Amino acid sequence: RVLRGSPRDLAGRKVVVSAGGTREAIDPVRYIGNRSSGLQGYALARTAVARGAEVTLVAANVALPDPAGAKVVRVESTAELREAVLEASAYADAVVMAAAVADFRPATRHDSKIKKTDGEPEPIRLTKNPDILAELGERRRRASAAERGPEVIVGFAAETDDVLANGQAKLARKGCDLLVVNQVGEGLAFGTPDNAATVLVAGGDAVEVPFGPKEDLADTVWDLVATRLA
Ligand code: CTP
Ligand code: CA
Repeated sequence: RVLRGSPRDLAGRKVVVSAGGTREAIDPVRYIGNRSSGLQGYALARTAVARGAEVTLVAANVALPDPAGAKVVRVESTAELREAVLEASAYADAVVMAAAVADFRPATRHDSKIKKTDGEPEPIRLTKNPDILAELGERRRRASAAERGPEVIVGFAAETDDVLANGQAKLARKGCDLLVVNQVGEGLAFGTPDNAATVLVAGGDAVEVPFGPKEDLADTVWDLVATRLA
């Protein structure tokens, strides 16, 4: 594969990438999770290393080998992902939230395995998880320069229905600089090596990335990040 753009344009930059999907424990053997494979996040980590960045990859429940040259922090739950991302972001130039974060977790975690009973099972009550991407944006708006965190914040969104309108609304709501919008369904995105997306840029631009390897989408994201850091 031919590297596009300036191959070392992230040299001296620290970047954080989250990948995979968080799991929320119901009891010691069960969890609520999602279908994220981590492939897009790992492609982002590999391409950032290739372009010279110092990369921290926060990986949630991913069955992929560690990418060479990246620091990998493995996490399971959203609380762990949040802690790892916020810690690594404190000194980073850019953060890319490619992980699929569980929106809800069971309100209580059973210490013992839930057993079958004669009657109907108890319902599982859910509570909202913190929104890490929104928190990064919020922090940047409010904090002093020293505590502001990454200069460039990138989110991902899988949408159905009115994909671009949903994406624009989400970009504004989260306060990030770039939002990579995937259309889901019809075998797209999950677990496949290829992807197509639209990268929405705060301020109104949209960059179409045609169906192709997840590395191509990753390089487009880093092109846009590098432009903003320059
Ligand atoms: N995200 C996050 N923390 C959460 C949920 C999502 O940081 N608790 C991040 C994801 O990593 C992703 C972006 O926010 O980069 C968008 O995630 P998405 O699930 O599309 O957005 P939500 O705000 O959760 O909205 P929805 O109701 O559509 O799921
Ligand atoms: Ca969500």
